[in-house]
Amino acid sequence: MQKVIAIIGSTGMLGIDVNAVLKDENAAIHNFNSINLDITELNNVMNALIKFKPNYIINCAAYTNVDLAETEKDKADKVNHVGALNLAIASKEINARLIHISTDYVFNGLKKAPYNENDDVNPVNEYGLSKLKGENAIKDSKASYIILRTEWLYGKNGKNFVNTILKLADTKKSIEVVDDQFGSPTYTKDVAFAIRDIIANDKGNNGIYNITNAGYASWYEFAAEIIKVFKRTNCVIIPVLSDKFVRPAKRPADSRLDCSKIKLDYKIELRNWKDALKKYCYDIGYFIL
Ligand SMILES: NC(=O)c1ccc[n+]([C@@H]2O[C@H](COP(=O)([O-])OP(=O)(O)OC[C@H]3O[C@@H](n4cnc5c(N)ncnc54)[C@H](OP(=O)(O)O)[C@@H]3O)[C@@H](O)[C@H]2O)c1
Repeated sequence: MQKVIAIIGSTGMLGIDVNAVLKDENAAIHNFNSINLDITELNNVMNALIKFKPNYIINCAAYTNVDLAETEKDKADKVNHVGALNLAIASKEINARLIHISTDYVFNGLKKAPYNENDDVNPVNEYGLSKLKGENAIKDSKASYIILRTEWLYGKNGKNFVNTILKLADTKKSIEVVDDQFGSPTYTKDVAFAIRDIIANDKGNNGIYNITNAGYASWYEFAAEIIKVFKRTNCVIIPVLSDKFVRPAKRPADSRLDCSKIKLDYKIELRNWKDALKKYCYDIGYFIL
């Protein structure tokens, strides 16, 4: 039978790629963004979703401005916590399975090894706290759910580190980038394919899964690879320590995620981040042999 899937946050960087990947599947897709469905209002959520009775609700919606969340914490909480709770309530009510996207920012980054799904959480900023509250609300809701924690996302349709470095490289001879924060650069298209594969082979279990491209880097290493892949070698990337750039929100220093659980349960293993970056380069038409 054809699956019915609601994509929440379908105009976001990840949501657009999820839509692009799922529309090639045999599924009826319903797209929602903040204009046609404000997830912070439970009535709206119920009314919108009950009409379609989706089998899956994929929540890519979030308040994602990490620095601004320090001063707009109520706004961040409303979308990332209350919004997630509302979607969980609706999922339970209409018997849908909720696939919710979360973040490495639930961790404080002090473990000095990749985090697994059972590690203690302790966010160091308001965005991370709001996302953690969203996770907890879903876990406590008795809805059927999968929470996917990812990190360092970039994709064709959003503000992201790759595009920032490329823009800077066109006008500057050198760029200073922090070399003491570690994670896995992750291509949104690869996460979208993973979501497709989870739905295709769904075990029906509740749980949290880490999902990132394989391998790890510092922001400096990531920037240096961008310059190499996109052939912007006139610009030099200079490694610096993060205390050189004081930002409103603290970041976890080392939020690498261990993705072995999703490999074990769902046979999903994303390609290495360097290969994903080359694919992104190709996908956006920059690939020069
Ligand atoms: N970007 C990263 O590096 C990163 C890292 C780790 C985890 N994540 C998580 O990955 C997910 C996707 O992130 P992204 O970067 O793709 O986000 P994004 O580009 O900022 O998109 C956010 C989406 O949320 C929607 N939205 C915001 N407030 C809403 C509301 N009140 N009701 C309904 N929809 C609302 C937006 O709709 P409008 O377009 O209408 O405003 C937009 O479609 C999020 O859960 C984020 O926390 C992101």
